[in-house]
Amino acid sequence: MTKRALITGVTGQDGAYLAENLLEKGYEVHGLRPYSAVPDEGRIEKLEELKLHYGDMIDGGNILRLIDAIQPDEIYNMAAMSHVHVSFDVPEATANINALGVLRVLEALRMMGSKGKDIKFYQASSSEMYGRSPAPQNEKTKFEPCSPYGTAKLFAYWTTRNYREAYGLYAANGILFNHESPLRGEEFVTRKITKAICEIEAGLKQKISLGNLDSKRDWGHASDYMEGVWQILQAPEADDYVLATGEAHSVREFVEVAFSHIGINLAWEGENINEVGRNKITGETLVEIDQAFFRPNEVHHLLGDASKAHNKLGWKPKYSFEGLVEDMMRADRIIDKQSKPRAA
Ligand code: GDD
Repeated sequence: MTKRALITGVTGQDGAYLAENLLEKGYEVHGLRPYSAVPDEGRIEKLEELKLHYGDMIDGGNILRLIDAIQPDEIYNMAAMSHVHVSFDVPEATANINALGVLRVLEALRMMGSKGKDIKFYQASSSEMYGRSPAPQNEKTKFEPCSPYGTAKLFAYWTTRNYREAYGLYAANGILFNHESPLRGEEFVTRKITKAICEIEAGLKQKISLGNLDSKRDWGHASDYMEGVWQILQAPEADDYVLATGEAHSVREFVEVAFSHIGINLAWEGENINEVGRNKITGETLVEIDQAFFRPNEVHHLLGDASKAHNKLGWKPKYSFEGLVEDMMRADRIIDKQSKPRAA
């Protein structure tokens, strides 16, 4: 029998990779996207079999009606206001979507009674929930969120666990550390860096402005993580799992490795807000610091321990840190694409 999946937030990076993955596995895939006045289908336009619906995490009736009409076997909640820095500007909207939105889906499943119990639910929880808790972090680590995004995600995490315990729903959390790809939004630091460097190489830009260069993240590839997300919902019992690579790198290291792809080595000079990254050979300033990209409260060091997912699900990421940067740089390169011979 064909399995049916419903993915919220299907137009985002994770939604797009997951939809592609599930279609390849033979699923019937339905995707929810909020109404947008500007085109938002770029990441999913090649997925012709994907069935799209308008849906919004702040509209409980809409969510209930859609779940009842689609009757999915599995729901993957990938919808979120996903930018940590922006969440400081719109904390109430962030909580409405990221916290109450999850409650609305779980309430819909609860209201559906025995039909709701047949539907497996995945919640996209985040390593941002660990906040200031010392690294490495795993499923037993204390949560200390330090952003409106993190606190909203923590509400959703506990609500998912409580609905599993209180009502016997199959509801699982994936606590995912940062995961990137060529489909990553340009407002996140990795894609901002790879895109800017490729523009610098093509002569379209002179330098890149960044915030905190010393924060460390455990960066993996979104395609590896979406396979893990699917595996989480295939476990016989619903449970919570960390997905991470077990390796952390600073923003500074990411910048250095990405620049090395266009043959540039950087030399750092100065301190704090006055620090700059120069081309070691020419002395040209290529990286500068801008206070605007610092957050009111920062998570300094995220490093995940995914041994539970490895031992219980057999999940292991394929991409290394270097492989991830290479994949993103390859996709953003303008020069290479321009010099490619035209198809005959
Ligand atoms: N966005 C951004 N822009 N971040 C910068 C910049 C900049 O110019 N300069 C330095 N950073 C630093 C941030 O301060 C942060 O420490 C780090 O780079 C990563 O920032 P993001 O790429 O915006 O990701 P994030 O770690 O805040 O959040 C991502 O990962 C979470 C999982 O831990 C998002 O994908 C979240 O949705 C996700 O839950």
